[in-house]
Amino acid sequence: MSDGDLDLMESLLGDPVVMRHYDHPRSRTECQSWIDWNTRNYARDGFGLWIIETVDGDCGLTWQPIDGESLELGYHVLPRHQGKGLATEAARAAKDFARLRGDVDVVIAIIDPGNTASIRVAEKAGLSLWKHADYHGREALIHRADLHQDYGCDKASC
Ligand SMILES: CC(C)(COP(=O)(O)OP(=O)(O)OC[C@H]1O[C@@H](n2cnc3c(N)ncnc32)[C@H](O)[C@@H]1OP(=O)(O)O)[C@@H](O)C(=O)NCCC(=O)NCCS
Repeated sequence: MSDGDLDLMESLLGDPVVMRHYDHPRSRTECQSWIDWNTRNYARDGFGLWIIETVDGDCGLTWQPIDGESLELGYHVLPRHQGKGLATEAARAAKDFARLRGDVDVVIAIIDPGNTASIRVAEKAGLSLWKHADYHGREALIHRADLHQDYGCDKASC
């Protein structure tokens, strides 16, 4: 994700359908802030949310304030590309990326309880319901996957 993706991100995060489980669709300025946030994350962490280049979407990993700090798997896909398995494929790839880094034990997803599609993507990527939590003043489902247990190995041998 870079400054050249601003139009794409505005069409994605500015779409009221895509953002119906968020507090509001994002303005162009907020989309630029989203890109800036991910650019900083790439520099600091070596990862962030990436563009799904084959469609208008993003998916990836960001640190979020759950249980201290937890690595969240996030995903957004434009409505015309939804229902083709793309978020699931991208989420699985991002989870593999986290596992292969070897320095993170768990990934989570923070999901609005009414967001059936997101719950299904999390489940299909191997993240099961862990608990309910308050996330920025809103109730959220926290799904999680243990990256080592999930792949049938303990941390020492993976
Ligand atoms: C969540 C989202 C990324 C899913 O993208 P997608 O590419 O359509 O997902 P997939 O095609 O991989 O579908 C995964 C599963 O969700 C199901 N699904 C998709 N849309 C659904 C809907 N509106 N209601 C119920 N299930 C739905 C699919 O049927 C599939 O399950 P199945 O294989 O058992 O049939 C997409 O709906 C989206 O961008 N939503 C808005 C942004 C958002 O809420 N992101 C998540 C924030 S936590």
